Amino acid sequence: MRTIWRAGDGRSVETIDQTKLPHAFVTLRLASAEDASRAIREMRVRGAPLIGATAAYGLALALLDDASDGALDAAYRLLVAARPTAVNLRWALDETRRAVAEVPPAERAARAFARADRMCDEDVAICRAIGEHGLEILRAAARRAGGRRLNILTHCNAGWLATVDWGTATAPIYRARQEGIELHVWVDETRPRNQGAALTAFELGEERVAHTVIADNTGGHLMQRGLVDLCIVGTDRTTANGDVANKIGTYLKALAAKDCGVPFYVALPSPSIDWALTDGLAQIPIEQRDGREVTHISGLAADGQLREIRLTPANTQAANYGFDVTPARLVTALITERGPCAATTDGLNGLFPARAPGSRGPK
Ligand code: MRU
Repeated sequence: MRTIWRAGDGRSVETIDQTKLPHAFVTLRLASAEDASRAIREMRVRGAPLIGATAAYGLALALLDDASDGALDAAYRLLVAARPTAVNLRWALDETRRAVAEVPPAERAARAFARADRMCDEDVAICRAIGEHGLEILRAAARRAGGRRLNILTHCNAGWLATVDWGTATAPIYRARQEGIELHVWVDETRPRNQGAALTAFELGEERVAHTVIADNTGGHLMQRGLVDLCIVGTDRTTANGDVANKIGTYLKALAAKDCGVPFYVALPSPSIDWALTDGLAQIPIEQRDGREVTHISGLAADGQLREIRLTPANTQAANYGFDVTPARLVTALITERGPCAATTDGLNGLFPARAPGSRGPK
């Protein structure tokens, strides 16, 4: 199944409430731009590509009730502010707004829905292509491993739940499994929201991929002992020179990988590239969330109910940075839908020549 789809009533879309996973599979109906914005803010939908698709549908839903320029602007502003780091959000809204600008108000909602539908299909095609290119990297790693099971480390959830289907970091893993390459995934739990422990573990279980959840601090130890062949992570925004913003803790894994000589790959769909930025550390806005996500944790209690408990002394102050930036020099290669490339300006421009400065070609 896909992670977002049009409901039968023609006036809403449905998605999976990821805050309930892995303990309950609950779907969520979005009937307005406000619903879409809330779902993104509360991380009921999450992951850069799915955030983008949800925002595009959110704009379309707003236009059903009022397709005036004013309503379009208001919905755009509401949705673009939902989360700051994943650039797919702005990209998807710009694409949808551009599509509706060409038609009279009476046709705008239908045009926006059509663009959002196409965006979902494009996302699936992009992730599939990342899977094919990543598969070649995994094949080569499996050859180097001499037939032994390949150990891959991943952080956060960059799987099908974070996209429309396939995932970015997981697509090569799913393709490799289909091809009979023996592999095992180390899953960083990814505090504080535990996307690894809750979501990646759920996905890999469903797809029958061997995996082990580890506390976030464990990866360096495993890499020092030769227990990780390569790392693959996703990205929320990658700058034109290859700096990668991803879930908090990604940078520490990249540092450990560099020290241990473990290849560190980033699965990068092109809508996650921010071509306007050239310095990730200085220019990418890093989301800061409620400290309660650090001081408290939720899960399935012995009575079968989902409950939240406090971990810290009452009133302890907590900082909650959602993302960090891994400098391009720590990235072995970016795996895009057009193939792998060096995490450099030249590397990205070589694959996307129309985006290179001075180019007038189509994007
Ligand atoms: O805060 P989240 O859960 O939305 O963060 C998601 C990630 O960091 C993913 O790794 C990233 O969006 C890539 S998803 C294909």
